[in-house]
Amino acid sequence: MKRPLRAVVVGASSGLGRCIGIGLAERGARVALLARRRQRLEAAAEEAGSGALAIECDVTDAGSCGVAITEAATGLGGIDALVYAPGIGPLARLADTDADTWRRVFDTNVTGAALVTTAALPHLAESAGAAVYLSSVSASLTPPWPGLGAYAVSKAALDKLVEAWRAEHGGIGFTRLVVGDCAGGDGDSTTAFARGWDQDLAAELHPLWIARSYLSGSLIEVDELVNIVETVLRGGSSMSVPSVTVTPRPIGLPRP
Ligand SMILES: NC(=O)c1ccc[n+]([C@@H]2O[C@H](COP(=O)([O-])OP(=O)(O)OC[C@H]3O[C@@H](n4cnc5c(N)ncnc54)[C@H](OP(=O)(O)O)[C@@H]3O)[C@@H](O)[C@H]2O)c1
Repeated sequence: MKRPLRAVVVGASSGLGRCIGIGLAERGARVALLARRRQRLEAAAEEAGSGALAIECDVTDAGSCGVAITEAATGLGGIDALVYAPGIGPLARLADTDADTWRRVFDTNVTGAALVTTAALPHLAESAGAAVYLSSVSASLTPPWPGLGAYAVSKAALDKLVEAWRAEHGGIGFTRLVVGDCAGGDGDSTTAFARGWDQDLAAELHPLWIARSYLSGSLIEVDELVNIVETVLRGGSSMSVPSVTVTPRPIGLPRP
């Protein structure tokens, strides 16, 4: 019998990462769910079933990444697949973005991805596995959205990071996943990306995003996103697709 995919999903306490973690488990994978909020991870692991592991990890701390990935590899008996979903997007115009905010955004969205990958590298090399990183349309398909400049810059850096890993480690599949608007699932699986935004600034910028056609008004079905992530991960190192883009069907086009 074929061994289940052994997958580590980072950023699995909320939103898309939670949907991917639980969704992979529902599709037969053994999963380790990583993020900072333990209680939320435990609830997600219970929902995932099949011996899913809940492991605390702060991606801004190299020591925490190392310990968490080791615990995941031990618990799963190896790692075939890594999903990097942590991402923060504080809402602020560039002129109002201070050094601390720039650091937080890069620590979480870019450096954290490098630290987690470094820790997982020997395990992924051994299994000829694959890693998928959640990026954004605002880094590659649209101009940067006003108010989310630091976020777009960090995701562009993440895109390059994925290419850089691929250049140095041919024995592992590295894929960038460019994601459009997606609300995630229900409860804790709903995206909390906009949590903490200044609502007055959001109300000012939202019409601009619509006028510039950055927001299509429709959303990606999260199950379809999970299916695509699963396909890429199951391809392992032989998956030659460096980038996948998932955007919602434009409004007005009927669903089949
Ligand atoms: N939703 C969308 O429409 C959309 C579109 C394009 C791209 N994306 C990308 O998809 C990813 C997930 O977004 P989302 O909408 O699901 O956001 P979300 O609901 O806010 O989830 C973010 C996740 O990142 C984790 N995280 C944040 N800081 C962390 C840290 N220091 N260490 C470990 N984990 C950390 C959070 O867990 P803890 O707080 O528990 O640590 C949480 O699980 C992001 O990379 C985002 O850029 C989303």
